[in-house]
Amino acid sequence: MTRKGIILAGGSGTRLYPITLGVSKQLLPVYDKPMIYYPLTTLMLVGIREIAVITTPQDQEQFKRVLGDGSQWGVSLTYITQPSPDGLAQAYLLAESFLGDSPSAMVLGDNIFFGAGLQTVLKEADATATGGTVFGYRVADPERYGVVDFDAAGRVRAIIEKPEVPPSQYAVTGLYFLDATAPERAKTITPSARGELEITSLLESYLHDEALSVKQMGRGFAWLDTGTHASLLDAGNFVRTLEERQGLQSGSPDEVAFEKGWISAGDLAERAKKFGKNSYGAYLSRLIG
Ligand code: TTP
Repeated sequence: MTRKGIILAGGSGTRLYPITLGVSKQLLPVYDKPMIYYPLTTLMLVGIREIAVITTPQDQEQFKRVLGDGSQWGVSLTYITQPSPDGLAQAYLLAESFLGDSPSAMVLGDNIFFGAGLQTVLKEADATATGGTVFGYRVADPERYGVVDFDAAGRVRAIIEKPEVPPSQYAVTGLYFLDATAPERAKTITPSARGELEITSLLESYLHDEALSVKQMGRGFAWLDTGTHASLLDAGNFVRTLEERQGLQSGSPDEVAFEKGWISAGDLAERAKKFGKNSYGAYLSRLIG
């Protein structure tokens, strides 16, 4: 069964107030593109072409203006609203009928992944049909995330949400490959003390059944989240540094769609024209050769 994608792009973005009083976090710029382009491109790199975009009710129109129906990239986008930010695991309840019997890959709308071999890592996770795969990444401040607790043999014992005393330096990134049982499992979990359906509770259900694989994403990868003023600026600077040094885009759905043969050179030329003479449009024109 083909894997479907979910981009979770609701939330309240309170840490970015006052900016996010008027606009969704995931539509803010990360250097030269809207933030959501990056997680969208991550799913496209997996090879996923059917994607649900979950937003707040009030922001949905703006997302539609930015992303449309996805046909410009040869993908199909379905919009789902999340009435209130009741937690990451709620996505699987909201997307239940969209997913049907398909496995899924869910990415948080404010997460950026970059690194040599990323596509290979993603493809490996995609190839696992049953159970779940998540990624552990070493961070300096694990207490902000779901943290992996390893036993002496290096097996995953638990994943603990925002622990005061982190059991390891390994945070679980915002990219979850789960099998078709995710919506059913999500129905069995109860809200946490902060009133959210936690993704860690859902992962716990897989762990309990010995059906969760935690893969390490090594130090050669960059995993950035963009939820605070400083990390948003850092992510923008990171993308700018890479792009200026290499002359290559990162997080361009147009490029990935073209590379995968989901759109033609003519389609890409149309897109390039839309962006006029700015550097993004010029880049797309160069890809056509
Ligand atoms: P968070 O950064 O944890 O929450 P937030 O975006 O509401 O921001 P803040 O903490 O500043 O108030 O969310 C991570 C990602 O998941 C982000 O892209 C928003 C999204 N999200 C939802 O779509 N629905 C939800 O219920 C939650 C909790 C988050």
